[in-house]
Amino acid sequence: MKGDDAIITVELEGRKIKVPAGLTVIEALWDTGHDVKRGIGCLSGLCGACTVAYLEKGNKKVRFGLGCQKVIEEGMNVIMIPCFPCHAARYSLKAPENPLEKLKELYDELYTCNDCRSCNICPEWINVAGVMRSAMDGDYESAAAHVTDCVMCGLCASRCPRNIAPHYVALYIQRALARERPFPPNLRNRLEGIESFTFDDEWKRIVAMDDDALREFCASFGGA
Ligand code: FES
Repeated sequence: MKGDDAIITVELEGRKIKVPAGLTVIEALWDTGHDVKRGIGCLSGLCGACTVAYLEKGNKKVRFGLGCQKVIEEGMNVIMIPCFPCHAARYSLKAPENPLEKLKELYDELYTCNDCRSCNICPEWINVAGVMRSAMDGDYESAAAHVTDCVMCGLCASRCPRNIAPHYVALYIQRALARERPFPPNLRNRLEGIESFTFDDEWKRIVAMDDDALREFCASFGGA
């Protein structure tokens, strides 16, 4: 079992319970017999599936984070947040001539934002309200540049009184900008190689390797 020797008391999903210190929220839930499968993906802080809300001991402010990253502390009160329903527009980026102009149509609720900043609860410390402001102002490059750490957890959407889903708005902007840029030639070459099975023999050789051969192979590229 992971965790420190010390045992701490926390409130997990409404139940006071003792757990080893040093566990993340997800590990603590597992440790205490919670059968948590939904709301968990990568366990590495990347997929954004495991949002939690928590109160620290002696603190009145509810905070938000990722359950696979947040380490429990003595006296903490924590719950998992279920997947939050929000508006995700359907679109094809192949269709519109200028996809960024379509933003107003796809996500018209964006323009009702009154800058209340409730969305600034991002576990990745993104200034979500600032990104939405840039998007409304048509400064799409800035909006995209400041949202690259987004893990699509949707916490921001759960707080918006105007029903804006900032993560989906930002995703559309990133996709639309990418569509307007020239396709990177290196990526094109690589995709063509994959489609024409250029690397098939090499791949079969790697898949057939045993652990030692694979280690040696990786080490030849400077890997561990
Ligand atoms: S499980 Fe993927 S971010 Fe936590």
